[in-house]
Amino acid sequence: MKNDSPSRTALWVTFLRAAADASPDINLFPDPIAKLFLPKTLKRLATSALFHRLMKFASFRIQRTERLRKVRPYWALLAEILMRARFAEDLLQQRIEEGVTQYIILGAGLDSFVFRYPELLSRVHVYELDHPASQAHKLSLIQRAGLTVPEGVTYLPIDFEKSSVSEVLSQSNFDPNQATLICWNGVSYYLTKSAVKALFLDLAEYCGDKVEIVFDYADGKFFQTKPVTWRQKIFEGSLRFGREPLLTGFYLQELEQLIQHCGFELVKNVPGKEQDALFSPQERGILFSNWNTHFAHIRGIDANTQRQVGS
Ligand SMILES: C[S@@+](CC[C@H](N)C(=O)[O-])C[C@H]1O[C@@H](n2cnc3c(N)ncnc32)[C@H](O)[C@@H]1O
Repeated sequence: MKNDSPSRTALWVTFLRAAADASPDINLFPDPIAKLFLPKTLKRLATSALFHRLMKFASFRIQRTERLRKVRPYWALLAEILMRARFAEDLLQQRIEEGVTQYIILGAGLDSFVFRYPELLSRVHVYELDHPASQAHKLSLIQRAGLTVPEGVTYLPIDFEKSSVSEVLSQSNFDPNQATLICWNGVSYYLTKSAVKALFLDLAEYCGDKVEIVFDYADGKFFQTKPVTWRQKIFEGSLRFGREPLLTGFYLQELEQLIQHCGFELVKNVPGKEQDALFSPQERGILFSNWNTHFAHIRGIDANTQRQVGS
């Protein structure tokens, strides 16, 4: 992010979450809070019956019309946003049962977990880290929506390009020796590769084998060529206009080498083509996955194992 205005991509994510919540054709990620964060016009659109009929029609045509195949990745952004959130929260529910007591949402945007699952906050403390401008805006939207921040949530501002996560967390009651799950969805795209590497190194050193991270990333091939078609140019241009240009993607092998070098191991990687199969057809409804992205789940390796791997 290049300046001091709140993230626009976070607003679009929230619009799509609100639209999916109101859709009669999607049952993947109920989020009744999302619409409370939207300006009136977007809220009206996200919940309008006509909009949902158009979404259903568009999904049907894009999947069945050869001529529209190239539009598929842009349409599939909706699925990407919902599927990655569900992938992370399914893992979180499982880990809470197994004893994870800390959940960090890095680049949280307008994520509404703490309002959707207040009953879990006695079992897991939530730390939301985000760009100062995005976080300040979120806190004002929470107030405007008449919501009360529950106990068990800590908001911490950070610019990933300038400060380390450990530096920021160490100013709170976060305990690096407790089992922790980190959700880092929808952010790696907008950072430089060196910022991604610095973040992994920092977290491995700070939390060792107590930490797991779930995140999504763009496939390296997405960055192989400059945008050439008008669709690619419009997409790139709109992100640049919103001052959140896409910067980083990885080939799987490259990512594996990077995380191993930083002190993590890959638990699971789900490429775009396999993401649909994570969910039932009833849950997905009109959604289909984005083939340009991956979901990853990585785990810190303890220092002794790391030395053996390195030797
Ligand atoms: C697309 S939103 C992702 C929101 C949410 N995590 C999700 O999964 O949908 C991107 C988020 O990354 C944050 N972000 C982008 N660059 C950042 C940076 N350099 N430092 C801190 N946060 C950053 C933005 O503030 C925004 O909240």
